[in-house]
Amino acid sequence: MAAAQVQPKLIIHGGAGSAIKSKEDIAAVRQCLYKVLEDVYGLLLSGATAQAAVVRGCHLLEDEPRFNAGTGSVLQSDGQIRMSASLMDGANQRFSGTINVSRIQHPIDLAQALQNASDRVLSDYGAAELVRELQLPIYNPLTENRLQEWLEERQENFTKKMAGVVAESHAGRGTIGVVALDNQGNLAAGTSTGGKGFERIGRVSDSAMPAGNYANKQAAISCTGIGEDIIDECLAAKIVIRVTDGLSLSAAFERSLQESQQNGRDLGAIGLDATGAIAWGRTSEILVAAYHTGEQMGDTLEWTEDKLTGFVTHIP
Ligand code: GLY
Repeated sequence: MAAAQVQPKLIIHGGAGSAIKSKEDIAAVRQCLYKVLEDVYGLLLSGATAQAAVVRGCHLLEDEPRFNAGTGSVLQSDGQIRMSASLMDGANQRFSGTINVSRIQHPIDLAQALQNASDRVLSDYGAAELVRELQLPIYNPLTENRLQEWLEERQENFTKKMAGVVAESHAGRGTIGVVALDNQGNLAAGTSTGGKGFERIGRVSDSAMPAGNYANKQAAISCTGIGEDIIDECLAAKIVIRVTDGLSLSAAFERSLQESQQNGRDLGAIGLDATGAIAWGRTSEILVAAYHTGEQMGDTLEWTEDKLTGFVTHIP
């Protein structure tokens, strides 16, 4: 007898602040997120695995220039783009990723290609070699907006300390992420980023670590925000482990985000559990996220006064 199918669930994010600077940006960002949700949710309904759905969602978000991943990635201190991404399949609890890769359209493709490899996280030279092995076309993810941002900030950097420039940069919190539950009840999470912007060469992002992207059979989480803060909290793995140890997804989010806030962190996270519960939370001012329950789509983009609402929110 065939196993009973479960209702797929999906949540995606476009970072913790880079995409929205005013109330007017909300409609455009919402439209973009909902388009991705519709596409990827359709795939889940047709029976795609959580892993395939996550990769598809990451492709679409990496292609959207308003988000800091793939096309539209921010530039590092030397004016180069180096991207990082990871994929975790909850069914076999397997993490793979790439760190500081250049000149490809979809960094998540490298993470996926490494899912069944014996060496599963590759950085700069190794990642470049894998790009050649896979014969992925050379692609320049630079956009005019990102170049202008870098040129302006670089100019100010002649009079400011680098740390100040990084702290003030909106792009510093940008990332994209996708978390899916498929109709077999399997979970997966994927996260991709251009990094903080203006960082030192060789700086490693949380997006290619279990701190920023983690999944098992019970829960799956993708994070955004300042990578160092996410690493210090080990946020994605912490939430997943709390659910595995018996907390509900919402309680795991509440506890973990409260700790993050007490520790003065600047971050956000989205997640699902195996029961189909959806949750997100942030200590950052903004979390750009949207979800599909099967019955409806919703998002975090409700503007009140001068910032977006919601510390931790969940849908059972
Ligand atoms: N969370 C993205 C980064 O800090 O690199």
